[in-house]
Formats: sequence, structure tokens, C-alpha cells
Amino acid sequence: MIRPMAIRYTSDIDDIGEAMLAGGFFEGWPHPPTSTTHLRILRGSAQVVLAIDDEARQVVGFINAISDGVHAAFIPLLEVLAAYRGRGIGRELVRRMLERLEGHYSIDLLCDADVQPYYEQLGAWVRSSGMSIRHFDRQATGIDADR
Ligand SMILES: CC(C)(COP(=O)(O)OP(=O)(O)OC[C@H]1O[C@@H](n2cnc3c(N)ncnc32)[C@H](O)[C@@H]1OP(=O)(O)O)[C@@H](O)C(=O)NCCC(=O)NCCS
Repeated sequence: MIRPMAIRYTSDIDDIGEAMLAGGFFEGWPHPPTSTTHLRILRGSAQVVLAIDDEARQVVGFINAISDGVHAAFIPLLEVLAAYRGRGIGRELVRRMLERLEGHYSIDLLCDADVQPYYEQLGAWVRSSGMSIRHFDRQATGIDADR
């Protein structure tokens, strides 16, 4: 049984090692990024919020954002490990990220239609439409395929 109080939130990734990211993120992705790539993603983000279970020494949820630093921000990823879902961790990650993105004109994210109700019930979010390109051969590694 996980107590809600056992979860710590942080935006400081200096002490986060790859082993702390190895809990099973990117569930269901055909080519999931490794913990090495995951850490590179976090380091390259404008903003990050992590949910940490200190007892388990694991990151159990995360959200990241990229930003032009003036006007527009985009949230590429939000995930809570399956065993930790339904305890308000996702809500808290989004709340803290929106706080950190305060001042931007636009904050966008893309999600499957079945996740839209999740964001709607958080408030603030409205449905929108968009266009995308996906290079699935790059899903696991991103720009640097050697790492
Ligand atoms: C979406 C996700 C981040 C929510 O994390 P979480 O920590 O479980 O979220 P919370 O605890 O804050 O909220 C859970 C509530 O949202 C509801 N919820 C979860 N997914 C939902 C969905 N797709 N549509 C509507 N409600 C949803 C749950 O039923 C629960 O409701 P309750 O509080 O009344 O029981 C998590 O399910 C997840 O990581 N999913 C896989 C990755 C994903 O889809 N990420 C978003 C992609 S953009």
C-alpha cells in the first residue's frame, strides 16, 4: 500500500540517475526510450516535474515541457507508473507544471481522444485540433541514435 504522503515532487533533476527511471515508463510504446534516453529528454526540457517514491528510490511519475521562453509551451509527456495511478499524482504533476509555465500565452499537448476527458476534468484544458509528424524509427532514441 502506497501512502500519498510518501510521494515527493521535485523539478531538480541533478540527483536523478538512470536507475531511478527504470520503473517501466513509456508503457505500451512499440519502441520505448531507454532510461538513458529518458534522462536526456528530461535534461533537454525547459521544465520538468517529477514524482518520486523515496522509499522505492524510483521516479513514479513525470511531466516535461518545452518552451520558446516567451510565448508558447508544449507538454510532450506525462506519465504515472501503473502501480501509482489513481492517487492524484497526475493531477499534481499537471498543476505544478502549469504553475511553472505561468506567463506563457499558449500551452499545448497532444493526446489520444480517450485521454481528453482526463484533461477536461482537471479544468483549464479545452479540446483542440492539430497536425503531427511521427518518425517511429526514432521513438526509442530521438536525435542521437548512438546512445
Ligand atoms: C493519465 C495519467 C497520467 C493519470 O495519472 P494518475 O496519477 O492516475 O491521475 P490522477 O490520480 O490525478 O487522476 C486519476 C483520475 O483520473 C481518471 N482518469 C484516468 N484516465 C482517464 C481518462 N483517460 N479519462 C478520464 N478520466 C481518467 C481516473 O479514473 C481517476 O479518477 P478518480 O480520481 O475519480 O478515481 C495516467 O493514467 C498515465 O500515466 N496514463 C498513461 C500515459 C498517458 O496516457 N499519459 C497522458 C498522455 S498525454
